[in-house]
Amino acid sequence: PAVVVVRAEAQPINPEIRKAEEKVVDTVLVPELSKPLTAYCRCWRSGTFPLCDGSHVKHNKATGDNVGPLLVKKQ
Ligand code: FES
Repeated sequence: PAVVVVRAEAQPINPEIRKAEEKVVDTVLVPELSKPLTAYCRCWRSGTFPLCDGSHVKHNKATGDNVGPLLVKKQ
């Protein structure tokens, strides 16, 4: 069967989580990493998915959403 992908470009992807915050960004600290910081996309709009490329800013402005990346930092 064919897979139909529907992209709702102008729709928020976060309808209810922590909406009082301007942008939801979470950080995970890991003691042993080869890179000091990696930002993973949670808006599904990044051109470099799974990495964040800042596209969430445009998405948030267009939709009123508040999504931001998951930051994985070396502790
Ligand atoms: Fe998607 Fe930054 S580009 S969270």
